[in-house]
Amino acid sequence: MVSEHAAQVLVASNRGPVSYTLREDGSLDARRGGGGLVSGLSAIGRDGDGASSLWVCAALGDGDREAVRRGAGEPGVRMLDIDAGVHADAYNGIANSVLWFVHHMLYQTPLEPAFDAEFRRQWAAYETYNRAFADALAAEAAPGAVVMVQDYHLCLVPGMLRELRPDLRIGHFSHTPWARRRLLPLLPDDIGAAAAARTAGRGPGGVPDPALGGHLRGVRGDVLGAGALEGTAVGVHGLGADADFLRARSQRQDVEEWLVRLRERVGAGRRTVVRVDRTELSKNIVRGLLAYRRLLTDRPEWRGQVVHIAFAYPSRQDLAVYRDYMASVRRLAEEINAEYGTDDWQPVLLELDDDFARSLAAYRMADVALVNPVRDGMNLVAKEVPVVSDEGCALVLSREAGAYEELGEDAIAVNPYDVMATADALHEALVMDPQERAERTKRLAAAATALPPTAWFLDQLAALASE
Ligand code: F6P
Repeated sequence: MVSEHAAQVLVASNRGPVSYTLREDGSLDARRGGGGLVSGLSAIGRDGDGASSLWVCAALGDGDREAVRRGAGEPGVRMLDIDAGVHADAYNGIANSVLWFVHHMLYQTPLEPAFDAEFRRQWAAYETYNRAFADALAAEAAPGAVVMVQDYHLCLVPGMLRELRPDLRIGHFSHTPWARRRLLPLLPDDIGAAAAARTAGRGPGGVPDPALGGHLRGVRGDVLGAGALEGTAVGVHGLGADADFLRARSQRQDVEEWLVRLRERVGAGRRTVVRVDRTELSKNIVRGLLAYRRLLTDRPEWRGQVVHIAFAYPSRQDLAVYRDYMASVRRLAEEINAEYGTDDWQPVLLELDDDFARSLAAYRMADVALVNPVRDGMNLVAKEVPVVSDEGCALVLSREAGAYEELGEDAIAVNPYDVMATADALHEALVMDPQERAERTKRLAAAATALPPTAWFLDQLAALASE
């Protein structure tokens, strides 16, 4: 029952559940995305209890903007046509180049960051963009509604909205890890305080619950220590893998076809080390390749016997630092192939375009899954692989991934900066006894699916209602 929590639930996020492209004939093509929020929100109104939902998001491209202008949006979704320059400064300039870096600890501090006049200009755009969301939510929300604000793009929204609508219950869910105590103060004082404290607007006769996913250990202390308003409640809601969907989807024909093709490319009898990531700076793909190269260098017995399948999908390609990172990944994979490859063995199979069916095929055939982020809010890949694995898969997992909290016991833990130790972990995973691997995979899959998307979402509503 949702209505015991709220009659109306609003979700606010930068990227929405649907995106539009403009066809040559002038018509609009709508594509719906997946993910935990889409599944979670589908629970609202399902029981016929009269509860309703609305998703407020930004128009991201020309197709989206055109859909807004034509009033062609889908029911239950309101796209905000924020000025494209303001959006670019807020999304690329602040959210992905500053807040993402602070939360994931990505700066090379001898030279960066340097908060100059350009930063201040972009911060003003970030405020304008957050203000557009707060105004739209204030206008749309019914009395007493619940508003679930998502992620670092919108961290000023809860505080702004609280001022406009003291009657609302407001949560902020962070999909990233939360900056460690000494990192948030990297931001200029006024802005660091705003980013931490305004996230946590106070509720009427109680406090909102900024349901916090992300790095689970010590997170309460870090959030509250960073200057969140006194009385803010912090909760941890670790999104689980959607087992029913993944198991059904991974048995479909297109996945079977990819399995055949990938097996052929790997070659009979060879083991596989699989990784699937968006090419984000935090995913540590370069050190993963360095570790694989070290494995081949130090343990020649693996040459010709193992293939590293690395799917590194494009992400945030408007930013030069992301494009450069992707180029480094490509360069290193080529170097390894040139150094060790033979006529009938390619050590690294790197693909840089996104294909979900191909990823599922790789998940199914993985002997080892490599998930070694320098820091990660959760990492759903670590949870998905054990769920769809055909014959069990050893998981090499960074202890800096949020998922480590739940999966650590049955994974092989690595320090993501330690290339030698990661190479050793790959070896350990490759030689793991099949029986043990299968047993561990079962336990990993159980832990990975403990909080499926719908329960994850309803849990957050319940936490907000109980404050
Ligand atoms: O990888 C997860 C994540 O970084 C989330 O924290 C965030 O909401 C989302 O991706 C944003 O991705 P994009 O920049 O592609 O919209």
